[in-house]
Amino acid sequence: MIALLPGDGIGPEVVAEARRVLETVCGDALAFEEGAVGYSAYEAGGHPLPDATLDLARRADAILFGAVGDPRGDALPRGQRPEQAILGLRKHLGLFANLRPARLYPELADASALRPEVARRIDLVIVRELNGDVYFGEKGMRTTAAGRREGYDIMSYDEDQVAAIARVGFETARARGRRLCSIDKANVLETSQLWRDVVIEVAAGYPDVQLSHMLVDNAAMQLVRDPGQFDVIVTGNLFGDILSDQASMCAGSIGMLPSASLDASQKGLYEPIHGSAPDIAGQGKANPLATILSAAMLLRYSLGLSDEADRIERAVATALSHGARTPDIGGTTTTSAMGEAVLAAL
Ligand code: IPM
Ligand code: MG
Repeated sequence: MIALLPGDGIGPEVVAEARRVLETVCGDALAFEEGAVGYSAYEAGGHPLPDATLDLARRADAILFGAVGDPRGDALPRGQRPEQAILGLRKHLGLFANLRPARLYPELADASALRPEVARRIDLVIVRELNGDVYFGEKGMRTTAAGRREGYDIMSYDEDQVAAIARVGFETARARGRRLCSIDKANVLETSQLWRDVVIEVAAGYPDVQLSHMLVDNAAMQLVRDPGQFDVIVTGNLFGDILSDQASMCAGSIGMLPSASLDASQKGLYEPIHGSAPDIAGQGKANPLATILSAAMLLRYSLGLSDEADRIERAVATALSHGARTPDIGGTTTTSAMGEAVLAAL
């Protein structure tokens, strides 16, 4: 059974298109159950991640997630904000390994924020750690001795967390171009020093993969200067969050990038890397391709259906080559018409 968690904003629109694609490719072989997450769940029942949804997610073979976030949620106490739904699912289900592939469809070279000859070279995977870092450390507001307000968020990683994500990075690189770039801020942060030390230790088990290290500020620069230099990037939760949004614009649009968040046994949650985009919700302007491509990753990683996943990815390329373009990639195709274009290509 696949749990569908559409969430807020454009989440329901894009998940609906991905569902149609899954139903077309897999027929009756898949069962779906829908659950509430995010601001809409908070409004209906007082919590962004209701127990019933967490239970549904635990029972499911895989989860397809839309997006969470709503401006009305920003004033709520942090524990009740829509974002807690996705952070809670990642933590409760042990989804520690986030794979965010970024490649440029040749048809979209003009949509990239980079010059086409630079953009054309992007084909990388960001492996982002999801269960640690400053996201999950102690945090709060306090008053300094001088009576001033102070906010704090503790950044930390233990060596087992780093080793686990490093192994995912090396395995991912092994299955691709055999080059792994670990990104940190070891010139300033102790968390990053441990990160770098542990990645080097884990590398001993992967002599066939070429390991390099890069500081995150330099990485942000290199990603726009020459994204083609990267094969697989492994990095922590916060740096991975930032660099993956950046990589998406290099590859054309944030509406194009899918992701998989996996636990130790390949159970996974699949979601577009974009957010709920409340400004365009309900207008048929959202690009459903990131979610459709996330559904393809779901079939490949959690259900072992790689032929079906390949079919979906080819259909997306065909739809683009036939000229389907939502506004984010320079056209006027609506969300559902983009879904139709992929279905037609199938
Ligand atoms: C992402 C998002 C989330 C994150 C938010 C919604 C909490 O930006 O998945 O990249 O920061 O991880
Ligand atoms: Mg993000």
